[in-house]
Amino acid sequence: MTKEVNDNTDFNSIVDSIYSRRNFMKKGLYIGLSSFVMSSFHSSIYANAENFSKFDFVSVKANSLDTITLPKGYSWQRVISWGDPIFPDGKEFDHLSRGTGASQNLAFGDNNDGMDFFFKGDKNILVVNNEYTNQKIIYGNRKTQKPETLDDIVKGKAAHGISIVELINKDKIWTIKKNSMFNRRITADTPMMITGYAKGSKLLKTKFDPEGVLSLGTWNNCGNGKTPWGTYLACEENFNGYFSSSDRFLKLSKEYKRYGIGHDDWGYNWAKADERFDIAKHPNEPNRCGYVVEIDPLNPKSVPRKLTSLGRFKHENAEVTLTEDNRVVVYMGDDERGEFLYKYISNNQYIVGSDTNNLLEEGTLYVAKFYNNLKGKWLELSPETTGLKSREEISVYTRIAASKVGATTMDRPEWVASNPLKKEVYCALTNNKNRGIKPNKGGDETSVEGVNPRKNNIYGQIVRWKPQDGDHASNNFKWDLFVIAGNPLVHNDLNAGSENVTKYNMFNSPDGLKFDEDGFLWIQTDGNYSNKGNFVGMGNNQMLVADTKSGKIKRFLVGPKECEITGLTWDKGKNTMFVGVQHPGENGNSNFPEGNGKIPRSSIIAIQKKNS
Ligand code: FEO
Ligand code: CA
Ligand code: CA
Ligand code: CA
Repeated sequence: MTKEVNDNTDFNSIVDSIYSRRNFMKKGLYIGLSSFVMSSFHSSIYANAENFSKFDFVSVKANSLDTITLPKGYSWQRVISWGDPIFPDGKEFDHLSRGTGASQNLAFGDNNDGMDFFFKGDKNILVVNNEYTNQKIIYGNRKTQKPETLDDIVKGKAAHGISIVELINKDKIWTIKKNSMFNRRITADTPMMITGYAKGSKLLKTKFDPEGVLSLGTWNNCGNGKTPWGTYLACEENFNGYFSSSDRFLKLSKEYKRYGIGHDDWGYNWAKADERFDIAKHPNEPNRCGYVVEIDPLNPKSVPRKLTSLGRFKHENAEVTLTEDNRVVVYMGDDERGEFLYKYISNNQYIVGSDTNNLLEEGTLYVAKFYNNLKGKWLELSPETTGLKSREEISVYTRIAASKVGATTMDRPEWVASNPLKKEVYCALTNNKNRGIKPNKGGDETSVEGVNPRKNNIYGQIVRWKPQDGDHASNNFKWDLFVIAGNPLVHNDLNAGSENVTKYNMFNSPDGLKFDEDGFLWIQTDGNYSNKGNFVGMGNNQMLVADTKSGKIKRFLVGPKECEITGLTWDKGKNTMFVGVQHPGENGNSNFPEGNGKIPRSSIIAIQKKNS
């Protein structure tokens, strides 16, 4: 087993050679290592002129309004919100009761996040993650604003998971086709198969599943992915927050601690209604989540598959691409302070029309090491490199395996996006208040250097890398920072952000990333919306679009109060863009989308160009 360390041998000479090419360094604003990283990308990578000509609009101004703001010439409509029925026998959302277990099982889930369209002929079938619930909102009908009855918990579980719904477009208005055969809810109680290296593992066996091959449900599905063979990948993120212990003195193992499993849940109370969530009774249940789940949306009877070979951590999304010889590559971030960035490569090639089941079951996991000299390496996670006993164990305790090889602790890796026109990949590192202050949960240090250049990183950055020889199979890559978010109104050091951040486009906490087919990179934020102090002038959370050639970034959308913007996809005709508005009014200060004193509801909106 080998632990990689950062190599600074010829670092100073590299820094010297790049410093001399910098303009903004002359201003004395950026000091040390961080400026090295920034200068290198300013001097060489942004040589081309901006290329927004294909997609021209005047940027919108930051604001704190309780609505959607778009550039002139674009309009939006609400398509679907938490609690809207998606079946003919569903009930319209009741603002007073905020629904029941029965109504929620027939309705769109809460807190929509990652999403994608799937097409069958002309049909547009939307698949959406419903990440979590805000207790204050979903139980706002209760005095305590908490689940009080068993049915409240049934409702909460049903508000999680995935919603599949066919949408129809008539006269440019998008609506739900309630009697579509494709409409489906997958919740925290839907049966699913366990596949991959940890299938049948003793670590996954429970009283309810003594074989370790079947599990119930998926929850906290954050970002998503889409495979070339037409399946949807839902990524389990903060799965830990649902478990609790009826034994207050239960000793917490180091594995529990690394994954944040504790005596208390995060207020969901699921163990009260479903003992699977009581770790004192069922200690292996938490090992059965934290995976990527594969769903076939065009086959409503298909059983979802938990893909253990892709590793167990707090998955953000799963960005799928192919190697030069057509093996499947999945890039994945683990969204926690000081956790890691991963890559999976299948053993077998993807051949159109052939059996694809083994592609996400048999393969190799790698974890990223970013060196200060703008080079990087994918470190294989195997029994030999990690000292863990088997691939089975690595699949369940992936974080622990990655620590063993000395992977780079990151500033919370959120979405990864691969450029469809170029062999390069981007990852949003949203923020990290522990950078340079506290190690991660495994005790790995979080030093201020290289790809994570700021102590107490409050604004976030986007890293990109190019695989060697233009092949995602390569173990080597070159990296730079595409943008360092910051506030040039408040700061004149590295917290002002990189050169492509101005007072007109500034933002914080990049989270959702997606490329469109023209190669524009869309950036969605989940950050501080106080519009005060370090965040003054940034307004509500927003969506921007970047020309990755010039580095130029423009603000396209501002969301309503107290929301984050997450989830982005396009219909078959590519005339409509669908955007997710998650948790508007999470602190009680929004009436989005209906206004007029109505309770706020997470929603998907459709954006179209007027007169197109
Ligand atoms: Fe669910 Fe990391 O965002
Ligand atoms: Ca996110
Ligand atoms: Ca986030
Ligand atoms: Ca969120």
